[in-house]
Amino acid sequence: MENIYLVGGGKGGVGKSIVSMSLIDFLIQQREKVLLVETDTSNPDVMKCYQSEIAAVALNFDHVDGWMDLINQCDHHKNHVVVINSAARNDHAVQTYGDRLQQALPLLKRKLITLWVINRQRDCVELLRNYLEQIPESKTNVLMNSYFGDKEKFETYNKSQTKKYIEQLGGKSLIFPELADRVADDLYINRMTIEKASEDLPIGNRIELLRWRSAAKKMFEEVIE
Ligand SMILES: Nc1ncnc2c1ncn2[C@@H]1O[C@H](COP(=O)(O)OP(=O)(O)O)[C@@H](O)[C@H]1O
Ligand SMILES: [Mg+2]
Repeated sequence: MENIYLVGGGKGGVGKSIVSMSLIDFLIQQREKVLLVETDTSNPDVMKCYQSEIAAVALNFDHVDGWMDLINQCDHHKNHVVVINSAARNDHAVQTYGDRLQQALPLLKRKLITLWVINRQRDCVELLRNYLEQIPESKTNVLMNSYFGDKEKFETYNKSQTKKYIEQLGGKSLIFPELADRVADDLYINRMTIEKASEDLPIGNRIELLRWRSAAKKMFEEVIE
């Protein structure tokens, strides 16, 4: 059975959407069928880029119905890998309703794998610690988004007990590559998939996109089971 990947981070602007897009692109290249669950109802950017290419549903995680629908959608799309793009303020909802998803996992016969995206600020690590307590059933990995600096600059995380704990549980601490702003903007503004951008952008932009895409592929190969 296919896994459920939850792209989290608790905060806005850390890179959850770009990681979700990159993950979907990776899975499509691996010839997986993908179901996107877009939970960012105020800014459904991943949905806008990918809804014409893959199965996609928008769900409201602030309401219990959204969590029931998530479980039902996972059941209906048995041969699809599920990618959940989470929204900035989902942490409270995860605390309130997350146990439902955890209880459903054995029935769905799926594993929950979290990719927790962080910038260099302390609250990212605090939110991660809460998440680990609330969703212990998830195998959780951390993506240090290099858009915010090199690995050494993620001091708070690198020195944290949380990092040790993640790694004790078999989770990984990885670097998510930076894409040139101009190309990232091409994706967002034109609502393009990464595949389409790799065909249509001017050659200079395309080269940058392909570099980033292959760096991301290397990273995902470490965590995608
Ligand atoms: N690794 C990256 N490379 C290039 N741009 C990035 C990267 N990470 C984040 N960004 C940019 O930062 C902004 C916020 O990223 P986004 O993925 O929308 O964050 P979130 O979904 O967590 O709110 C976007 O404009 C995005 O292009
Ligand atoms: Mg987002």
